[in-house]
Amino acid sequence: MKMGCSWVCATSGFWVVLLVLSRLSCSEGQVVPALFVLGDSIVDVGNNNYLALSVAKAVLPYYGLDFPTKKPNGRFTNGKNSADFMAEKLGLPSPPPYLALISNSSERNNSSLFLTGVSFASGGAGIFDGNDEKFEQSIPLKDQVGAFVAVHDNLTQHMGSPGAQQHVAKSLFLFVIGNNDLFDYSKSSDLQKQYTPQQYVDRMASSLKDQLKRLHSYDARKFVFAGLPPIGCTPARRNWNETGGCREDQNSWARMYNEALLAMLNGLKSELNDISYSYLDLYNIVQEFIQNPSAYGFTEVKAACCGLGNLRAVVPCLPISEYCPNRRDHLFWDSVHPTEATHRIFIDKAFNGSQYTYPMGVHQLAAVET
Ligand SMILES: *[C@@H]1O[C@H](CO)[C@@H](O)[C@H](O)[C@H]1NC(C)=O
Ligand SMILES: *[C@@H]1O[C@H](CO)[C@@H](O)[C@H](O)[C@H]1NC(C)=O
Ligand SMILES: *[C@@H]1O[C@H](CO)[C@@H](O)[C@H](O)[C@H]1NC(C)=O
Ligand SMILES: *[C@@H]1O[C@H](CO)[C@@H](O)[C@H](O)[C@H]1NC(C)=O
Ligand SMILES: *[C@@H]1O[C@H](CO)[C@@H](O)[C@H](O)[C@H]1NC(C)=O
Ligand SMILES: *[C@@H]1O[C@H](CO)[C@@H](O)[C@H](O)[C@H]1NC(C)=O
Repeated sequence: MKMGCSWVCATSGFWVVLLVLSRLSCSEGQVVPALFVLGDSIVDVGNNNYLALSVAKAVLPYYGLDFPTKKPNGRFTNGKNSADFMAEKLGLPSPPPYLALISNSSERNNSSLFLTGVSFASGGAGIFDGNDEKFEQSIPLKDQVGAFVAVHDNLTQHMGSPGAQQHVAKSLFLFVIGNNDLFDYSKSSDLQKQYTPQQYVDRMASSLKDQLKRLHSYDARKFVFAGLPPIGCTPARRNWNETGGCREDQNSWARMYNEALLAMLNGLKSELNDISYSYLDLYNIVQEFIQNPSAYGFTEVKAACCGLGNLRAVVPCLPISEYCPNRRDHLFWDSVHPTEATHRIFIDKAFNGSQYTYPMGVHQLAAVET
């Protein structure tokens, strides 16, 4: 379909009518008016900087070292993250942090603020309200969804109800969340006594489903979900294994959650009918990096780039820490977060509709008519 479209566009030449027609059918690339991002530190672009009490902020060197400004900016990596790359591929500006928009009175009055999307993502956030949320360290998912509802009201004020409805239905909603829920589970003997891993991940999926239904009632129709990566293979978790191998328990929970997520999405699709989604299999993408690093330009897939101690994962990435000279060849930036290089490949894989997307890649999702 993509090939057919560009053929029509390329050969229609001065046939203005044909060009217009081909524009209509080749709407791919311009079809998505906005990107809304919900999730945790993997995609936070600075919301946590506006949480007065939070210590989960990427505000110190060497975060942001390879960002265009070369300064820490709230992203938990050395440069851009998956949210930035996804926006870039869609031809949209990177969605600004919601809290930055509403905290600035001169921006608050600007009606075009929310038009191309907003990021609600917050480092430390989970599907459940965990400890971080209790101590106002991060914005829990249900509050991220609540903030979208406020944005939806705003869009309705400016575009009218049918206008806002179409705008939102064509927009993409990117979800990157779940890591912190499993982290809380691994740290809490109470949670482990209360729920088996299977029961816990089922609750995660069902709680996410409630939030998706709420978004759907506010016109959201197209979703991108990142599955959980092998969280037991982060430098931090390898340090929980005396051999330095991946923590198998953590990896098995991630696989279990991904299955629960896919089953939930399948069910939701038949319940609601008018939604579309793309699931990105980060688990197998990261396994592939670990097994075949050179194919992706990596030379180091175990240790962090920035930090101190074993695997540079004992002391966090702070001004007192060391960082690797070449960030491009490391899978991990710090003890739990990927490098910009890794983020870039994630989003390439998401778009290309490889064996790592289900049931379709993001290009195809973008082109779905709503
Ligand atoms: C508020 O927004 C205006 C306009 O975009 C900008 O010039 C100003 O620097 C912002 N203020 C703060 C504190 O971010
Ligand atoms: C924003 O709008 C409010 C109310 O409409 C007004 O009081 C305020 O002065 C405006 N702020 C700016 C910076 O224009
Ligand atoms: C409103 O925001 C848009 C998008 O950020 C910007 O291009 C425009 O200049 C702003 N308008 C005013 C009056 O600040
Ligand atoms: C929505 O826009 C109006 C101006 O039309 C502004 O007063 C209001 O604060 C905005 N809402 C949010 C949530 O920013
Ligand atoms: C530690 O890593 C080894 C592989 O090096 C693996 O066989 C073992 O299951 C891991 N232990 C735990 C507790 O996950
Ligand atoms: C995806 O496709 C683009 C253009 O077709 C190509 O440049 C890029 O290398 C591909 N990425 C992957 C990860 O296959």
